Amino acid sequence: MRIDVLTLFPEMFESPLSHSILRRAQEKGLVEFFLTNIRDFAAQGNYRRVDDKPYGGGPGMVLMPEPVFNCFEHVQKQSDVKGRVVLLSPQGKKFDHEKAVELSREQRLTFIAGRYEGFDERIRVGLGAEQLSIGDYVLSGGELAAMVIIDAVVRLQEGVLGDEDSACDDSFSNGLLEYPHYTRPEIFRGMKVPEILLSGDHGKIAEWRKAQAIKRTRENRPDLLEDKNF
Ligand code: ADE
Repeated sequence: MRIDVLTLFPEMFESPLSHSILRRAQEKGLVEFFLTNIRDFAAQGNYRRVDDKPYGGGPGMVLMPEPVFNCFEHVQKQSDVKGRVVLLSPQGKKFDHEKAVELSREQRLTFIAGRYEGFDERIRVGLGAEQLSIGDYVLSGGELAAMVIIDAVVRLQEGVLGDEDSACDDSFSNGLLEYPHYTRPEIFRGMKVPEILLSGDHGKIAEWRKAQAIKRTRENRPDLLEDKNF
């Protein structure tokens, strides 16, 4: 998978992309990242300006179409595959596990992270981009949202996670939040590991975990259970 990120702050991505699972995925040759600075594609002079005041008035600044189109056209040429184009925005459709699975099947993804009040609408329309939001709150820019989506998508690529940390028991993968986990010691500050997990009875353990997953989902995310028969 090839992932391009168009951003005004490529340095923000350096640390998340060079640790843990995302680093391992690159080392195994399963994913390649390309970070491109939108400002490098702004018109010369005028301090390489990338934003301007909104037509019609109102607060804040808007990301101009020209540098984004120039940057996009430059990166698109680097591969024959067009793939999907994602604009990070609080106005987008909500990103979730299902969307992560859908995006993980693509050969190429291009993320466009904006700053300021928003994007000129012609960026979304002209580049055929889908808008995605990571939640109902406003971040200072799309970079953190892009990193969240990249992490969730890459860990679903076949071969990225070893057997020891497989994604199939993860929260959401079966429509439920995950059951609670315990490791050594058996008693920590007076809190004991549930007896059943020490019993060696795998059938009983699986039953207990399922019941715990349902309980936790009912408590924390009842919306996930709405049309399910648990
Ligand atoms: N940019 C600013 N806020 C955002 C959000 N909640 N999701 C995605 N991109 C954003």
